[in-house]
Amino acid sequence: MDKLLIDGGVPLYGTVSISGAKNAALPLLAATLLAPGEHVLHNVPDLRDTRTMLKLLEILGVQWERSGKTVRINADNLTGVEAPYDLVKTMRASVLVLGPLLARLGSARVSLPGGCAIGARPINYHLKGFEKLGVTTNLEQGYVEAIANGRMQGATVYFDVPSVTGTENVLMASVVAEGETVIENAAREPEVGNLVDMLVAMGANIEGKDTDRLVVQGVSELHATESKIIPDRIETGTYMIAVAATGGSVTITDCDPSHLLALTEKLLLCGVNIEETEDSITVSCPEIDGRSLCRLRSIDITTLPYPGFPTDLQAQFMALMVQGDGTSIIHETIFENRFMHVAELKRLGADIAIEGSRAIIRGIGRDTLCGAPVMATDLRASASLVIAGLSALGRTEVSRIYHLERGYEEMAEKLRALGARVEIVRE
Ligand code: EPU
Repeated sequence: MDKLLIDGGVPLYGTVSISGAKNAALPLLAATLLAPGEHVLHNVPDLRDTRTMLKLLEILGVQWERSGKTVRINADNLTGVEAPYDLVKTMRASVLVLGPLLARLGSARVSLPGGCAIGARPINYHLKGFEKLGVTTNLEQGYVEAIANGRMQGATVYFDVPSVTGTENVLMASVVAEGETVIENAAREPEVGNLVDMLVAMGANIEGKDTDRLVVQGVSELHATESKIIPDRIETGTYMIAVAATGGSVTITDCDPSHLLALTEKLLLCGVNIEETEDSITVSCPEIDGRSLCRLRSIDITTLPYPGFPTDLQAQFMALMVQGDGTSIIHETIFENRFMHVAELKRLGADIAIEGSRAIIRGIGRDTLCGAPVMATDLRASASLVIAGLSALGRTEVSRIYHLERGYEEMAEKLRALGARVEIVRE
């Protein structure tokens, strides 16, 4: 199994460029199923998950080619409606083809994703939304079979909880439904906004971008278009936290600081310096002789839907709080099992107790973590272990880094360019 070796305790210095957002690329790639013609997507990150989505599109009859960060997709002849178990089990976001397939072909068959490392993660909101539009759904041998009985009909769809992929899936189905669809309590994540922009460029009529109420007037057809994936705010946040944890000074470029207000606010409270331009963030912690002069104040966070503190940065923030000067409480409200990194962080010396959906972290101060072998359990947990390893003294070996490769483009190379001593060992 491939591993990442980290010789920690080195502050990070330099510039790092942010890739396109995984969680925007996935729905935008799925949206190309909605119309024939040549779609052009720019700034598509080359990740395990985007490759899986392209493989799925290929199974459905799509042809594509990548040139650098640009992917050209031709969805003229769709030949299938099924997302097989083998792909869905490696990437839950495969369910994002349900909406576009219903819109374009009137039916879809998608393996029901099981539970995953971070929680049960059902798709009942997606299915309830489709049913409101007149779709019949059945569960057959582990597959969701969805059939639009004629043209879908606009309706009001209310989400109990703002679901990101649920909003995206129902939105992609509703753009060609007859009449008006209103999605109430829609997710407001910037990735949903990126999808709205693409759908509007394809000819859809959508109002309410970036709000919790999306109003769609159905159109009879859409056309291919050219779109750009927004910068990855979670990758950006991960590097921000890494610098706060190791000390040093790093300018993060090609990012959108306006998508990271919750994290920026918290890092400032911790005592980290942050300067921003329109598309860059400089994070710095003054240090002398490799010892950070920044005291790291312990603070509390609660994960919430956007614009609240993202659950996708909770594990990384915990790796920082482990080195705080007091007690921090991290409350995870989105996923019920997103503390898998805790046991691994403890292997490096962290003092953390879990009480239900809260983790209580007693900070042990800077320069006190010690490297150890640890195992990655999911994508963001892996990033947390990398941050802890970068700040720990001695060697940390992170195994199962395929998790990391699902969502971070060239992480080892980017970290090395900042002075980190990291190496991937392929086995
Ligand atoms: N939920 C349901 N039923 C549903 C859908 C969601 O009960 O039908 C619950 C979930 O279990 C969770 C909450 O609603 O408690 C919110 O989940 P959401 O549907 O928003 O999550 P998602 O769309 O499956 C996306 C990201 C995740 C990110 C979450 C929350 C993509 C491809 N994935 O997942 O990203 O954690 O939103 O922001 O956009 C990651 O990148 O590491 C990752 C897990």
